[in-house]
Amino acid sequence: MKTIDTKAARGQRDFQSRIKKLALIGCGKLGEGLLSGMLGSQLIPVENVEVTVAHQPRADYLAEKYGVKAHTNNAQAVKGADLVLIVLKPQQVKGFLHDVKKVLRKDAVVISAAASVTTALIERELGRPTRAIRAMPNTPCLIRQGMTAVAASVHAAPDDVTLAREIFASMGRTVVVDEKHMDAITGLSGSGPAYVYLMIESLAEGGVKMGLPRELATELSAQTLLGAASLVLHTGEHPAKLKDMVTTPAGCTIDGLMELEEGGLRVTLIKAVVRAAQRAKQLVEGQNS
Ligand SMILES: NC(=O)c1ccc[n+]([C@@H]2O[C@H](COP(=O)([O-])OP(=O)(O)OC[C@H]3O[C@@H](n4cnc5c(N)ncnc54)[C@H](OP(=O)(O)O)[C@@H]3O)[C@@H](O)[C@H]2O)c1
Repeated sequence: MKTIDTKAARGQRDFQSRIKKLALIGCGKLGEGLLSGMLGSQLIPVENVEVTVAHQPRADYLAEKYGVKAHTNNAQAVKGADLVLIVLKPQQVKGFLHDVKKVLRKDAVVISAAASVTTALIERELGRPTRAIRAMPNTPCLIRQGMTAVAASVHAAPDDVTLAREIFASMGRTVVVDEKHMDAITGLSGSGPAYVYLMIESLAEGGVKMGLPRELATELSAQTLLGAASLVLHTGEHPAKLKDMVTTPAGCTIDGLMELEEGGLRVTLIKAVVRAAQRAKQLVEGQNS
């Protein structure tokens, strides 16, 4: 029987022929999402992946749940790896690079998903030109609805960017951007799910205030955000035009919108992205404010 050679299947084969060992460093909340996404989409076989964490019980949990080799020895994981995926907290990245620079293969692709960590910092800490890629995913990656921006360093080849994109494409949408935009993206789509949860919760509370059962109100609220967001992506229309479609002259929506404008929702959201993006620049140095 003739098999259909889809683009995804070809991508998978290319990925597997290039990556014989992937070291995933710092397999916490986001790292586990990436691990589960890569294994679930069969991008890479489990025997080609080695993951590390700080505490052995967490390593045992990951080994048990995913059948992956998991431990706390970063140098061992990095040794011989073609691809190193860093999902540590920003403040931990410098120490990690310092610890593994002697064992890290000179031709390894290094992808960092840590906020605030630039590809220049990675090269500086390793003390040599490196095929470094910076990525900013978000938590909906856990259910393959993520948004990930990927930026290449000067020494990363186009194939390396494709490789990074394939990883994150197995967990949702991806875009390739200039690295100068990464802090802004961190403040928008990296932190964004938290802002949206606040909106879902608040809209639901509005329903509760008007007598709806909480569970129903939360479902109505969450699906409304999901549907509205999907309509923006699906139609490519400006959100203002879609808003106008809901807003009947002298209807009830315009009254709701007036309340939001009076409460400063628009400027508050703009400021939230700006503040988070500014903060994103500082995390790598471990500054508290
Ligand atoms: N969460 C998000 O929404 C999100 C979105 C985009 C980017 N990011 C970035 O992803 C990174 C991780 O965030 P997270 O929310 O996943 O944090 P997290 O859940 O705290 O995960 C960090 C993991 O690193 C492990 N770890 C700590 N020190 C280590 C070391 N020296 N060697 C190896 N592993 C070590 C921890 O191990 P133990 O579990 O054993 O303590 C933990 O599993 C951050 O840089 C963040 O900027 C996060």
